Amino acid sequence: MNTVLLHCRGGFEKECAAEIVARSAEQGVFGYPQFEAGQAYVLFHCHAPGGAEELVTRLRFERLIFARQWCACLPLVSGLSKRDRITPLLEQCRQLPQAAELMVEVADTTEGRELQGFARKFGSALSQALRQEEILLPRKQKSDWRMHLFVIDGQTLWLGAAPARNSSPLPMGIRRLKFPHHAPSRSTLKLEEAWLHFLSAGRQKRLLAPGMTAVDLGAAPGGWTWQLVKHHMRVTAVDNGPMDEALMESGQVEHRQEDAFTFVPPKPVDWLVCDIVDKPARVTELMLRWALSGWCKQAMFNLKLPMKKRFDEVEHCLQHLEAALHEAGVEYRLRARQLYHDREEITCWLSLSEPGQ
Ligand SMILES: C[S@@+](CC[C@H](N)C(=O)[O-])C[C@H]1O[C@@H](n2cnc3c(N)ncnc32)[C@H](O)[C@@H]1O
Repeated sequence: MNTVLLHCRGGFEKECAAEIVARSAEQGVFGYPQFEAGQAYVLFHCHAPGGAEELVTRLRFERLIFARQWCACLPLVSGLSKRDRITPLLEQCRQLPQAAELMVEVADTTEGRELQGFARKFGSALSQALRQEEILLPRKQKSDWRMHLFVIDGQTLWLGAAPARNSSPLPMGIRRLKFPHHAPSRSTLKLEEAWLHFLSAGRQKRLLAPGMTAVDLGAAPGGWTWQLVKHHMRVTAVDNGPMDEALMESGQVEHRQEDAFTFVPPKPVDWLVCDIVDKPARVTELMLRWALSGWCKQAMFNLKLPMKKRFDEVEHCLQHLEAALHEAGVEYRLRARQLYHDREEITCWLSLSEPGQ
């Protein structure tokens, strides 16, 4: 397999491409990206045979910020006949590493979503045929690999595979969440997704415990504060704007109408969360100040991306943050991802109490 297919948010193909070029070169895997703006996926063609398989095995998927999902692919399958699409695919699937599951995916675009019905039906017929031919292992059997089918249209598709523990367990890497009725803003879904994405079940229990304290910088109208309150934390919400009245009635929130960039917490807190719309470098400095001052144990923050050079800006901010923490001898763990509910932004988790990668 020579091609890696990476799913991303539509409009962020350039960033996804720049990132895979940079990260794969660090692994000694070289190639070139191919994409069209807005198609919500990027192809990375490796120069060396077998490069794609090597890359999805060696590079840790969680290191990628702009890719939601990935797999190593066989060459593009095109010109499938409506009469029998399945037979020609069986032989191809034999070339993939053994798997017990077929994940059916489309691009996260309007055209992709329109194809989803067809892709689902076709995928279930293909996986039935693959099981009959014993190309797919029985469902209950554990396997290191997952097979992927990415449908472009009725005649064209990509077949591939990804290591089950080094890819997203969710089709297209998309975590759909229901908007909670009483939450003050849709932004609430970003923090909920961030916790589900970055924190394992054990960490969620440990790190989102009742009675903990939090500061929410740029809190209004209170979608993120609402999530913290849901976990029975006591929250200081810092924003000059008004907070949702019902949320304030919980009695768990203190609203401070101050500038988040100069606010100093009276006591260190368990959580700092920050959704301020400002220059990413400025927000990074603010996070660094909190980390170096020992004002929080965990931080979840968004970096709003500029219009141009978005990948460079993200690299610059995160490298600066890491270098400064390292220099100060602070142990930390940092992860970043453009989540499904993020728009022109990425979400970062900085853990100062559970360091180590
Ligand atoms: C995207 S909104 C936050 C939405 C919030 N996370 C939610 O879930 O409802 C950004 C907020 O940052 C606030 N903000 C921007 N600059 C600020 C500053 N210097 N100090 C405090 N708040 C600021 C704005 O007033 C705005 O309410």
